[in-house]
Amino acid sequence: MLISNPRAIHFAYPDTLRTILNVESADQSRVWLSGWELISQQATPLWELTEAASQLGIARLCVKDESFRSPLGSFKALGAPIALMRLVMRLWHAHDIEPQALIEGRYAEMLANLTVISATDGNHGKALAAAAQSIGCHCVIVLHANVSAEREQAIAAYGARIVRIAGNYDESVAHAATLAKNNGWHVVSDTSYDGYEAIPRDVMQGYGTIAAEIIEQSTDAPAFTHVFLQGGVGGLAAGVASYLWERGGAQRPRFIVVEPRQADCLYQSAIAGHAARATGSVDSVMAGLACGETSPLAWKILEQCIDDFMLIDDDDAVDAMRHLAKGAGDDAPLVAGESGAAGFAGLCALMRNDEFARAAGLDRNARVLVINTEGATAPAAYAQFVGESAQAVAARQQAWKQSCVR
Ligand SMILES: Cc1ncc(COP(=O)(O)O)c(C=O)c1O
Repeated sequence: MLISNPRAIHFAYPDTLRTILNVESADQSRVWLSGWELISQQATPLWELTEAASQLGIARLCVKDESFRSPLGSFKALGAPIALMRLVMRLWHAHDIEPQALIEGRYAEMLANLTVISATDGNHGKALAAAAQSIGCHCVIVLHANVSAEREQAIAAYGARIVRIAGNYDESVAHAATLAKNNGWHVVSDTSYDGYEAIPRDVMQGYGTIAAEIIEQSTDAPAFTHVFLQGGVGGLAAGVASYLWERGGAQRPRFIVVEPRQADCLYQSAIAGHAARATGSVDSVMAGLACGETSPLAWKILEQCIDDFMLIDDDDAVDAMRHLAKGAGDDAPLVAGESGAAGFAGLCALMRNDEFARAAGLDRNARVLVINTEGATAPAAYAQFVGESAQAVAARQQAWKQSCVR
């Protein structure tokens, strides 16, 4: 359930990868998106979980909390909107489009005949629907059979037309591509495929904001030794790891990718040595990570920088949600959704097994960062898993904050 990647290197960020993802373009995306009303104007919190670190037997544990990124509920608010903006700029390149005016909807008349489409397991589609609504174009979202009605409603609330198919996530990706071809629509997908790379690259590049903030928020402390990253198609991991690698160079942290056991496409890619498919059913409570096929573009980054790939069970994720919601000892209670809690779940799973912990170099000196990639994006499912509503946990978090001020 943990394998090390023999292709991972600890040199300076290679120029070949800089042509795909780089700090300069990530920072530009950050500036462009900062004017969007659905993005928080402040950096998302970097929580220090002292008690959890001590219970796990490591020196330090921090959680970068993307549940605060946007009312959309996840880090995905950084990806689709910037890719949509860059798409419009490419399509109307003669117009010298002003990014702030674009996201405020001041080009809506010009965009009235533009339709964008994507498959999604929830968060990406919601972010694309919201961005399309903001700039004033049409949006069609293709959902596979296992996307819950709760997630569907959340996407439809942003004005997207929903197309529901009977198949799985990968089939929904293929269906979106066919609909786009037949109707002259534009696919804005977070995963790449043959001949389709510009947009998923822009999506991944948007996620670099998370890494930029992490660096700004941790200048006073010794750098992290380990960073846990959830894996769906690989975009989040590529966007965050590439930024931290380019900035950290040969001193970059050790990156560990965590996936659901049934949706192990990145783990299988590490074994095969190329972008590969998952071996399991792909269905998981970790809806955002339930992806059967690796994004080949993301893999170009991941194959050189992810040191370890690991798998967790659905129960591990649910336990992690509860643990974070409770808040050990004096630690803050955190609202982490099913996929959001997966990085922390991966850390806990490794620390329960001496052999794996040793293999990953996790000991009393380890300074670990995990990313809570979503809040309660499916609130009813959250309440059922945690035994408490997300609002109640958030209220306890508020009380915790006030007790710290006193
Ligand atoms: C909450 C959450 N975390 C992590 C991921 C994984 O991101 P990626 O598919 O880019 O690897 C997703 C993907 O949808 C997600 O929704």
